[in-house]
Amino acid sequence: MTIQAGDKIPSVDLAIMTDDGPDTISTDDLFSGKKVAIFGVPGAFTPTCSAKHLPGFVENADALKAKGVDTIACLSVNDAFVMGAWGKDQNVGDKVMMLADGSAAFTKAADLVLDLTERGLGVRCQRFAMIVDNGVVSSIHIDEGTFEKTSAETMLGEL
Ligand code: BEZ
Repeated sequence: MTIQAGDKIPSVDLAIMTDDGPDTISTDDLFSGKKVAIFGVPGAFTPTCSAKHLPGFVENADALKAKGVDTIACLSVNDAFVMGAWGKDQNVGDKVMMLADGSAAFTKAADLVLDLTERGLGVRCQRFAMIVDNGVVSSIHIDEGTFEKTSAETMLGEL
């Protein structure tokens, strides 16, 4: 069943790119004791994700933090090299953590799989936006055709 408000975030390992190469970060460490705004996208460098979704969270990072968000994170079923390069290309700096869910462990455990096999993209993650308080989902929106439901602006309005 798809993850929903009240559910605990699955305990899995994700990857991030650092100056020393890819590093592992567990969701337990990432979410523990923090308010996290996390959004998922079907793919790095894809049109909607690059033109609207990620830039919206970069632009609104300070406003989200002013409303109590400690960490803003972007997740995609891509490897850490790709997520690192996309973050650099989008000038995310330290505003948005670029999380690689390379083997879709998080995506599968949260039942957020978007199967784009027929389009040559394999298993991906649905576009979503969640607010997570100390490891428990407090709100989640999934894109079922309306990108705006998962935007930074919509999230700001909710906080
Ligand atoms: C996008 O624009 O976000 C997108 C396009 C093709 C595949 C996946 C995502």
